Amino acid sequence: MHDFIYRKSELYAEDVPVRKIVEKAGTPLYIYSYNTLVRHYSAYKEAFDGYPNIICFALKANSNPALLKILAKEGSGADVVSGGELFFALKAGIPAKNIVYAGVGKTEQEIEYALKSRILMFNIESSDELAAIDKVAGRLKVKAPIALRVNPDISASTHPYISTGLKKHKFGIPINKALEYYSLANSLRNVEVVGIHKHIGSQITRTTPFVDALKKVLVLADSLKSRGIEIRYLDMGGGLGIPYNNEEDLPKPGDLAKAIMPLIKLHNFTLIIEPGRSIVGNAGILVTKVLYLKKHLRKEFVIVDAGMNDLIRPSLYDAYHHIQPVKKNARRIVYADVVGPICESGDFFAKGRKMNSPRHEDLLAVMSAGAYGFSMSSNYNGRKKAAEVLVKGKEFFVVREREEYKDLIKGTSIPGFLK
Ligand code: LLP
Repeated sequence: MHDFIYRKSELYAEDVPVRKIVEKAGTPLYIYSYNTLVRHYSAYKEAFDGYPNIICFALKANSNPALLKILAKEGSGADVVSGGELFFALKAGIPAKNIVYAGVGKTEQEIEYALKSRILMFNIESSDELAAIDKVAGRLKVKAPIALRVNPDISASTHPYISTGLKKHKFGIPINKALEYYSLANSLRNVEVVGIHKHIGSQITRTTPFVDALKKVLVLADSLKSRGIEIRYLDMGGGLGIPYNNEEDLPKPGDLAKAIMPLIKLHNFTLIIEPGRSIVGNAGILVTKVLYLKKHLRKEFVIVDAGMNDLIRPSLYDAYHHIQPVKKNARRIVYADVVGPICESGDFFAKGRKMNSPRHEDLLAVMSAGAYGFSMSSNYNGRKKAAEVLVKGKEFFVVREREEYKDLIKGTSIPGFLK
């Protein structure tokens, strides 16, 4: 469910016509709905109410400071994967005690920053990383709270690039080696074992893989307990997949809770979940303007002013995003490739998509673009990053200005011998 709905034939973001926002902020433009964002966060909070939990929003999905501020005010924690994301989370006012830090390649500087900030825990992915954390914590004379990210060898049935829980993936520690790694961690002076972490992939649209992975992790937690290692935090990784094409029967946080609570309710954990996509994905759209139309060997191309640098998901994962006109029309039906201005054949938003024939300067909304949209955007082909707008009821706010050409050369310099 989201708040980008037609009134008569005009697309609205909450109570504001999208066209009106574009008049002020231009295109390409990300528009986010406050109501959708808060509703999606609250769905997790309510689903797990009654069991100790921390919902740690995965900043990689979207780290716009205004959105983070909203989530911070709602009580969200954060899942971060770099010093930069830790900085964003702290700056938004997310308490360090609700921040978990994952990723296979944390640097010593990043570890130091996180230790000094006193985050809740590090999700550790290798014995080398354990050694590095022990070393930095020793130098700072603190104990580093850690969880080991175990790889339960469960197929997430999602796109191979966003599946992470199989043996062959670079992530985590194989579950059959976990006891060894936990004894190693437990023997380190400057490390305190507090949790278990797993994450099997993203855009998972069934609850079964979560349940299967959790079962394996609970067996591990029991073995650890019998060896005197008590797990306080059970971190089950990312959240649910979302509808990209109006699929109606996908599980919601309440269904996830129903599926996993019977497994964990007898344990005394604090449950951590790190949803990203399911909180912000359908809370955002990317609005783009039609520049040109082109027909070539019976193929129709709609050339728009957003490109793969703004939203790379279709190019990178062949991901489907619904595309809707900002003003509905009854023109003839075409089957068109919607493409961007970038000099790559992979620069497309849709292929052979059925749509009412667009015209020059029409506005199109690429739906479900709030997660892994702006956060994966780049300046490729010398393109300025898009602006971002937040809508709340009848009001809207520019929460990130569109970049200017001078931003594209920020920090660069010309060596003296060239001057
Ligand atoms: N926790 C960890 C350790 C993760 O690696 C991820 C996502 C999440 C949480 C959040 O998962 P979510 O709730 O959003 O499914 N760029 C890709 C998605 C990459 C996901 C990477 N990890 C895409 O656009 O589909």
